[in-house]
This record gives sequence, structure tokens and C-alpha cells, in this order.
Amino acid sequence: MDAFMDAFCPTAPQVRAPYSQLNNLLYKSYLPLIINSAAEMGLFDVLSAGDSFLEKLAEELNANVHVLDALLDVLEAVGLVAVQDGCYTLTSMSGTYLVSSSKVNQLRALRGFSGSRGPFDNLVEALRHDHVKTFNNRIWASEEAALSMEQVSKAGMIQEVVSFMKSIPGFSGARRMCDIAGSIGYYSLAMLRENDGLQAHVYDLPEVCAIARKVKRDDEHFERVTFHDFDITGSSWVDDGFDLFFCSHFLYEFGAKGTLVDFLKKVNASLKPGGYFVSSHISSYTTGENRLTFAMVELMTRAMGYPTHSLPEETLKEALGKAGFGDFTIQEPNEDLAFATMLLSARKLQETL
Ligand SMILES: C[S@@+](CC[C@H](N)C(=O)[O-])C[C@H]1O[C@@H](n2cnc3c(N)ncnc32)[C@H](O)[C@@H]1O
Repeated sequence: MDAFMDAFCPTAPQVRAPYSQLNNLLYKSYLPLIINSAAEMGLFDVLSAGDSFLEKLAEELNANVHVLDALLDVLEAVGLVAVQDGCYTLTSMSGTYLVSSSKVNQLRALRGFSGSRGPFDNLVEALRHDHVKTFNNRIWASEEAALSMEQVSKAGMIQEVVSFMKSIPGFSGARRMCDIAGSIGYYSLAMLRENDGLQAHVYDLPEVCAIARKVKRDDEHFERVTFHDFDITGSSWVDDGFDLFFCSHFLYEFGAKGTLVDFLKKVNASLKPGGYFVSSHISSYTTGENRLTFAMVELMTRAMGYPTHSLPEETLKEALGKAGFGDFTIQEPNEDLAFATMLLSARKLQETL
């Protein structure tokens, strides 16, 4: 146990077991509702008439293709559909028990497992082709949501990020760090504990900054963090002269919409020459137990009207290259952690704006 763990998490001995195990177990409780939604849409019945490609299936079911795609991925992860060369087919389990014309269908039993209230309650509606869902970017702007994100991050991810940051050549000499969309500053505060000369600047929505100033004011290093009211959709941008620029779980939409290079060019302009950008984002689906959980997170994300919850390594690296960054260091996701991210650092090699 290192000094950071002792100082930051008094309950650190309790982080001995991988939180991913419990997280995966809890996510499985969503399955009945997801499978019920698929049955209610008629997905198993339509597939029983013949194998089908995603677009054709979406047309036949009158479904939103983006959300359906994520649903099929979950069903594949639990063995209820199989896919080969993009063509979906029933498995013997779903063909026998989930098709209404089957003499031994268990749809009544399935309906008994309705699942509890949760993020998939309106999945059938979200799957409809004509359903327009606008993502609400205020879902993290409450004390409960922010403290909950902090608590999840403390089950290993903050420790992982801090140890990665410490390995960056510029970390010990860094004096100014930007933490964009940094919520109530739990990542920044953890990093400050590792570098006495560092000042952190957290940028987030005004209501989130107000919560941070309230709940973090008694933190040991609170006076070394400045919370800046900020909205990325507005016309203002962050200050410049940073040695480090940290960004965690924020760039998925930029990657999906092709605006990542523009964003990273602005990051470049805010960094001193030779400064480092550090990214912590889910990069791709994993294998094993975490694969199902990630598939469900992706389905939940798309059903909420947000494009995706993954930022592929190649998308990020290519955009960084175009924005004047290089010297990449990558740390692959630690599968023991829940919502494990790929960590990447990149050095500013040239000015681009
Ligand atoms: C998924 S959370 C990530 C928080 C933190 N970086 C982490 O990794 O735990 C996304 C953050 O982006 C912030 N956010 C959402 N929309 C924003 C916007 N338009 N401008 C600035 N911040 C925004 C949210 O308030 C929230 O703190």
C-alpha cells in the first residue's frame, strides 16, 4: 500500500478485491428487462423467419438502427443471438424458448422476470425508429451524481490514473494542470497530493463547480484547485500556459462526431511547448466478464441519446497527430477495474493554431 492510497482512501484495505466483479454482477440484474424489450419488439420472432442484417432487421422492426445495434451486441454477449459476417441469427436457446410460435416458448416466464426500475425501463420506446431522444448533459450536475462518480473512481481508477500520471516525465516539474470536465475535482485533488508545487484548474458546468466548492472546501488541498464555471458548447475556452491537460470520460461525443481534432488543437494551444495531454477513456470492448457490462453501458448510452461510450485508440491517436501531438505512451485497461479506461499520454510537439 503506498502513501497515496493511505492518505486518499482510509478504507484502502477494502479495495483488495476487484470492483469489476461486483459491478459485473450488478449489471447482470438488468438482463431480464433487456431480453423482455427485445421480445416485446418482436426481435426473436422476426429472426425466426430468417437470418438478417442489422439495417434490414431495423427496417422490419421499425427500430432505431443505432440503439438496435447495441441491443444485438448485448444479446450476442449472452448467447441469445449469433452473428457472422454482419448477419444475425437465433441461437438454439432463443430459437427454442423465445420465439412465440415455439411450442415450448417461455415468454410468460420471461415476463415474470421483469427486472427492476433502472436505465432500461424505457428501452422499448428508445428502440423505436421515430423516437427522438435528446441527451441531457446535466445528468452529472447533482451532488448525488458527482459523489457517486467519485466513489466509483475511488475503487481503483483514481489510483491507476495517479500512478500513470506520476510516470510522465513532466509530472514532477509540472506547475499548472487543466482538468477539463473534471466534475468536483476528485482526480485533480488526488494528483495534487503527489506534487506539492502543482496547481489544478478544473473546468466544468457552473452548477457542478458550485457543488465542488461546497463539498470539497474542507479537503486538504482545496486551496490549490480553482473551479472554473465553463460550458464547452459556449464561445469561451480555458486559460493557457498549462504543463498538463487531463481529460477523463468526456471525449466520446467528439470522437463520434468527428470534432476531436478541433478540440485537441485548442488543447494544444493551451499547453506550454513540451506539455502533456493525458486521456482516460474507454477505448474498446473487452473480453470476458467485462464485455457484457460494456455492451450494456453502450446500450444504455445510446438509448439515452448520446452517440457512444467508447473512444477507439486509433481515433484518438490519429486526431492527436493532426493536432501537433506525439510521443504517445499507452496503458491498456486494467480488467480488474470497473469501467476501466485506456490511459494515454501525448506530448505537444508543435503549435497548430
Ligand atoms: C462522465 S462525467 C466525467 C467526470 C470526470 N472527468 C470523471 O472522469 O469522473 C462528464 C463531466 O462532463 C461535464 N460536462 C457535461 N457537459 C459539459 C459541458 N457542456 N461543458 C463542460 N462540462 C460538461 C459534466 O458535468 C461531468 O462532470
